[in-house]
Amino acid sequence: MGLKSVKTGTSGVVVWFTGMSGAGKSTIARALVDRLQTFAVPATMLDGDVLRLGLNSDLGFSEAERTENLRRVAHVAALFCQEGFVAVTATISPDPEHRANARRIVGENRFVEVFVDTPLDVCEKRDPKGLYKRARRGEIPQFTGIGSPYHSPQRPDITLYTQRASVDSCVDGIIEYLARVHHMSASHDDQRVA
Ligand code: ADX
Repeated sequence: MGLKSVKTGTSGVVVWFTGMSGAGKSTIARALVDRLQTFAVPATMLDGDVLRLGLNSDLGFSEAERTENLRRVAHVAALFCQEGFVAVTATISPDPEHRANARRIVGENRFVEVFVDTPLDVCEKRDPKGLYKRARRGEIPQFTGIGSPYHSPQRPDITLYTQRASVDSCVDGIIEYLARVHHMSASHDDQRVA
């Protein structure tokens, strides 16, 4: 998509990715942030794996700890959002309550839920970090999709199918949504194109 600049107005947006480990959340989220930054849009990435190394390093994967992890991620995202950023989060956020709570914290009108709908068997085949193999061996007892459930969103704002769509076309779809629903204006060589 030929965007030169995308302006979000005075308030930002939170793009909240959800999906299983290995679904492709971080890859697409990173590509989205890169694309937005290329067009001088203030955008930042909040990756679950990265946040769990610092801010959330005291938390594990019990139900209560995931809830607290995601509460913190939502509050950080909301702060960026209030400063006019597009804050892109990539966390599993396996329960509808996690996502609804994040939406409440951020604000209904500023929250875009993106479901990365990659089936478990595909995630498990990809197994980029070797975690599914370890979970199957019983080494990670509460691993999402194996020993702990992932509840797919019923009505996400955007659904991405990574088996048949490229990373670039997924990013295109999200940019198009942001332009249409959040009235971001996009221009190329000073001409409005979206
Ligand atoms: S969430 O459930 O609280 O949203 P989050 O997205 O922060 O999870 O972290 C998920 C990442 O932690 C996974 O991509 C994986 O690398 C790692 N991980 C380690 N243990 C687990 C587990 N039991 N379940 C899911 N992911 C785990």
